[in-house]
Amino acid sequence: MISETDFIANHYSTELNQGNFIWSAPSNIALVKYWGKKQDQIPANQSLSFTLNKCKTITKLGFERRRFDKLSETNSTFSFDLLFEGQPKEDFKPKIHKFLERIEKYCPYLKNYHFTIDTQNTFPHSSGIASSASGMAALAMNIMSLEKELNPSMTEEYFYKKASFLARLGSGSACRSIKGSIVVWGEHQEIEESSNLFGVAFTSGVHSNFNNYQDTILLVDKGEKQVSSTLGHDLMHNHPFAAQRFLQAPENLSKLKSILENGNLEEFIKIVESEALTLHAMMMTSMPYFILMKPNTLAIINKIWSFRNETKIPVCFTLDAGANVHVLYPENNKNETLQFIKDELVGYCQNGQYICDEIGFGSQLILEN
Ligand code: PMV
Repeated sequence: MISETDFIANHYSTELNQGNFIWSAPSNIALVKYWGKKQDQIPANQSLSFTLNKCKTITKLGFERRRFDKLSETNSTFSFDLLFEGQPKEDFKPKIHKFLERIEKYCPYLKNYHFTIDTQNTFPHSSGIASSASGMAALAMNIMSLEKELNPSMTEEYFYKKASFLARLGSGSACRSIKGSIVVWGEHQEIEESSNLFGVAFTSGVHSNFNNYQDTILLVDKGEKQVSSTLGHDLMHNHPFAAQRFLQAPENLSKLKSILENGNLEEFIKIVESEALTLHAMMMTSMPYFILMKPNTLAIINKIWSFRNETKIPVCFTLDAGANVHVLYPENNKNETLQFIKDELVGYCQNGQYICDEIGFGSQLILEN
């Protein structure tokens, strides 16, 4: 089994002075939720997500070898400029600095270079859609492209595993944004090669009901989260229901595995909605307790339940760590569901905003030179 030390780069066959890459990486939406972690972003429970298609971060990484003129000058610091949509963005720098520090052990070549990191998202800034998963995944892919230049004999399998491993160290759920279309993170006995260290693509035969599965994201509240996910994860330590939750998640993943194979949408809905509400129940029962849902979140959930009861269309919802609602449904129910969203749900969205997305294929290389 692959271990952490296998990700320490120590073999470079090529000298590399400069270059740049552009990678895009998508956001992802968890169906079985990760909530609670151990040190170094090791998850307290297994999770499974749909990789999205349109909500992406696109990151350009330019790099050039640093020159140290005097012997006293050493590469003891990281050197990078950070741009957001082409403009310098100082407030993003500490997060990137922390990420580079965390991954340095595995990528000891980083301090040999000066980087220009230029990043943009395809979804509106501060829409309440977290860009940390797609952002960290896009940066990790770029860093792995650089490492592959230094060590061209690297296998594709190692390339993707280490990219997910590095992304995890940036933001846990980012490790699920490297590959598509369904990704499992966390060691689970029924999922081959699953690991706490990186995400793996779910490769069992997925039923055609889930082909191009739709996710319309209703932007209920675009404000800053009152409670960061870092703090939320922390509150799972000493949480009165944590032990039970950490047993429930792998059971739900087992059930979902069979459902994804057999296409039973009624059972799919039960697991997915229960997971969403359980995530928020954990928040509401931690100490201190907090609520991220808004009145409009609940109004939308009730509307979805009525619509489903009346039409028997298998539409369901899931939630992230926020008030926005992800509306999930099969592609062949797209027209009726979008009509329902326009007629009955848009009024609950901030400025009527929503994003139509669907299950996608993971990160993509856009430029290499
Ligand atoms: O990756 P983090 O540390 O931001 O945690 C994300 C946790 C949830 O989005 C709430 C659930 C998940 O599995 O993505």
